[in-house]
Amino acid sequence: MEAFEYRDGELYAEGVALSAIAARFGTPTYVYSRAHIEAQYRAYAEALAGLPHLVCFAVKANSNLGVLNALARLGAGFDIVSRGELERVLAAGGEPGKIVFSGVGKTRDDMRRALEVGVHCFNVESTVELERLQEVAADLGVKAPVSLRVNPDVDAGTHPYISTGLKENKFGIDIDEAEAVYARAAGLPNLEVVGVDCHIGSQLTSLPPFLDALERLLALVDRLAARGIRIRHLDLGGGLGVRYKDEEPPLAGDYIQAVRERIAGRDLALVFEPGRSIVANAGVLLTRVEYLKHTAHKDFAIVDAAMNDLIRPALYQAWMDVVPVRPRDGEARSYDIVGPICETGDFLAKQRDLALDEGDLLAVRSAGAYGFVMSSNYNTRGRAAEVLVDGGQAFEVRRRETLPELFAGESLLPE
Ligand code: LLP
Repeated sequence: MEAFEYRDGELYAEGVALSAIAARFGTPTYVYSRAHIEAQYRAYAEALAGLPHLVCFAVKANSNLGVLNALARLGAGFDIVSRGELERVLAAGGEPGKIVFSGVGKTRDDMRRALEVGVHCFNVESTVELERLQEVAADLGVKAPVSLRVNPDVDAGTHPYISTGLKENKFGIDIDEAEAVYARAAGLPNLEVVGVDCHIGSQLTSLPPFLDALERLLALVDRLAARGIRIRHLDLGGGLGVRYKDEEPPLAGDYIQAVRERIAGRDLALVFEPGRSIVANAGVLLTRVEYLKHTAHKDFAIVDAAMNDLIRPALYQAWMDVVPVRPRDGEARSYDIVGPICETGDFLAKQRDLALDEGDLLAVRSAGAYGFVMSSNYNTRGRAAEVLVDGGQAFEVRRRETLPELFAGESLLPE
């Protein structure tokens, strides 16, 4: 579904004009569509119908409480990587029993809290983590459900910063060593082996790497069964890509169908951890043109959003579409869309043909994933507001940060 469409010459989020959102909440503001988020989640859940499954939204992609709450109301599970994300999910009404806990650096506190609330599974990334989890679970007198994140050594063919399934990455346990680590886990009294998982990278635009990883995991499940270690669920992580420009990623339904065919006849539950594919195209970053600066070499549109609000272009050279909220007639020029931060790397887009005037509103598309969550206060800029649109209504699900908040936790030196 298309959440953002032009109507009467202006861009809408569902039934609400983006100009009305800018007038009411100011800019820069992230705007999300509830209907889009729900449709994307349902594409996973419906394709999995009839199989035991969990669709665990990767909270790191967008951790706003309103967004998490919308998903929790649909019965979603959540993939978390920190104590903070755990508390967010609980505050948003998520069920602890549907949480998978990923990440290479879980602290003892993280583990304790997750055991207390009763998460579905710990996705364990190393032998040392396994030993630590055993200790913490023993202290509490409980059994910790574990899955080992194996590294299947497949090339996801994505950006090196977000490719995680190769041997040289810090993630997971080498698939060739996994059997021995499972044997160790099965022998520890306060652990219960329940699953196997992998996550090979993000923004994948074809199925073969996923299916390659799946085959390797299934072979491992068989080798473990031969040793008497029974795996109950297979967690294939997240990673399904989205269209930013002209990519044609597979649909969730087609991906899941291909997985279902390959696990037919096995007694396995399926878990997925999608992040980007649920929320990326459910969001835009709404920003206003402050200045048009024409130089001998270039034309710059200096906007009120910056790399602190949306770092993907600066960090990954990510291409994100930038469109006018109210397209105007007039001569288009090739603009670099830049923010006010004092760094050459502070850009949102380069060389975009646009007809602009000062004060115009722009929408950076596909900004619902890894947008607000990666924002910072660099240059002492308050973080943007977040608005969730539901039909004809717009809800401020996070208000703009105020200036006093930016240094409220700091202090002067003593006299
Ligand atoms: N599960 C695990 C263990 C992960 O590490 C990730 C993402 C996901 C699930 C969700 O993956 P997704 O479905 O969103 O591809 N900041 C980068 C993306 C980093 C992804 C990190 N891990 C970006 O803006 O492109």
